[in-house]
Amino acid sequence: MSTAISPTAYNYKVVRQFAIMTVVWGILGMGLGVFIASQLVWPELNFGLPWTSFGRLRPLHTNLVIFAFGGCALFATSYYVVQRTCQTRLISDSLAAFTFWGWQVVIVGAIITLPLGYTTTKEYAELEWPLAILLAIVWVSYGLVFFGTITKRKTKHIYVGNWFYGAFIVVTAMLHIVNHASLPVSFFKSYSAYSGATDAMIQWWYGHNAVGFFLTTGFLGMMYYFVPKQAERPIYSYRLSIVHFWALITLYIWAGPHHLHYTALPDWAQSLGMAMSIILLAPSWGGMINGMMTLSGAWHKLRTDPILRFLVVSLAFYGMSTFEGPMMAIKTVNSLSHYTDWTIGHVHAGALGWVAMISIGAIYHMIPKLFGRAQMHSVGLINAHFWLATIGTVLYIASMWVNGITQGLMWRAINDDGTLTYSFVEALQASHPGYIVRALGGAFFASGMFLMAYNVWRTVRASNPVEAEAAAQIAVVGAH
Ligand code: HEM
Ligand code: HEM
Repeated sequence: MSTAISPTAYNYKVVRQFAIMTVVWGILGMGLGVFIASQLVWPELNFGLPWTSFGRLRPLHTNLVIFAFGGCALFATSYYVVQRTCQTRLISDSLAAFTFWGWQVVIVGAIITLPLGYTTTKEYAELEWPLAILLAIVWVSYGLVFFGTITKRKTKHIYVGNWFYGAFIVVTAMLHIVNHASLPVSFFKSYSAYSGATDAMIQWWYGHNAVGFFLTTGFLGMMYYFVPKQAERPIYSYRLSIVHFWALITLYIWAGPHHLHYTALPDWAQSLGMAMSIILLAPSWGGMINGMMTLSGAWHKLRTDPILRFLVVSLAFYGMSTFEGPMMAIKTVNSLSHYTDWTIGHVHAGALGWVAMISIGAIYHMIPKLFGRAQMHSVGLINAHFWLATIGTVLYIASMWVNGITQGLMWRAINDDGTLTYSFVEALQASHPGYIVRALGGAFFASGMFLMAYNVWRTVRASNPVEAEAAAQIAVVGAH
């Protein structure tokens, strides 16, 4: 394979910035997760102050882990992948820099406004209108950089990873702009343009597709690049990846009503959401199998390569949570699981097991390349991180399953005379041990992030600017 060097180089600066911030926001967001998990064990940790109360810090946790940690990982990897697979530099350095700084401003805005209580109250769309508008501008700029780079590609075809990233960018823009339509009444307060059941439906069309396109499709783009790269094997089936793409994006968009079972939403819409959710199992597993089978003939690498372990275990959790999700979408199952910790367990099977694990694997893969090193400072530390993350995830989701089913069954238990067998407080008391185990699992996961930060810092400190520069040169042939 020829490695002729062209005079121009990839823009790795913005990739480095987003990659480092992924680790920083990961620590903060997950650290806050451990804190709010501890508040549910020891309520004194609310400190009797509104700013530090669970109700205000919880949305900050979700914003930090989804948009700051997950978002930075998606920006970093998509800018890296699009350049390498299109063998060209990003179309505009200044616009890319704007997306980096703009995104950080939105996050800092969230850190300030959410604890102060400024919120639209719509889950995952809490940021008030000035920040929401900035977010929309940054996002459209991101789209321009990404698709602009694709238009000037040197390769004939568009690698499948870019299809997934592209869909994630377009659909996220659409969801954010439609769901945020509102009437501002002051600088910090706005009212939704929709009302009643319509508002709820729009919100969960947004919410579910935030899961589907932000937390899934973007990370599948990651999978299609980093799994074959790390395994040094071609993707198992290119044809399956195309079927996977079209099936996934066609089906996801219909499943939102499963968040609104047994509500004022028309019954037919609930049933439609349930049916589409069950069908969604097929493309989800098609993608998972495509990723897993890429390891055919390379399974032995798992013995020695902890980065590959992160990537493969993330696929296992993806498979698990996309099996669990369709089951929970069945109305009779949902009548037990809804409002309970089962949902929280499902969320974190996806969030910790899939989203965080694949991001961590991708960042470990990229960091040495971005900073001109042969490998990370310590492979042993990556391995330790892998075990902390895996054990942490298992403790988290297992405790929430036990809690969720316990709560669901206790709430619905009825005596012969029709009165409730248990009071709410009794169910809460029964949940206490599970909350302790969850906080412990979260602490395992978050402590792994500290090992990562140390490892990244040592790798960056030992970086060689000349080699980093050489690594960023666009290899004309065989770049990806
Ligand atoms: C150390 C790791 C983490 C811990 C300890 C943690 C803890 C928590 C806690 C205690 C809650 C509130 C649960 C409740 O209201 O009963 C929560 C909610 C949530 N977390 Fe995490 N979290 C962690 C990591 C993450 C990550 C990495 C993501 C996403 C990538 C994430 C996404 C969410 C979401 C979406 C919710 C809201 C769930 C819902 O409303 O159903 N978390 N987390
Ligand atoms: C085929 C795939 C999936 C289906 C059909 C599905 C289905 C569901 C269902 C039925 C609920 C419970 C709704 C409720 O009772 O309120 C739920 C909640 C949730 N799921 Fe999934 N899920 C899937 C995959 C995933 C994945 C991969 C992730 C994360 C990366 C995820 C993240 C979430 C979140 C964040 C919530 C909580 C939303 C909230 O109430 O705030 N899901 N999902």
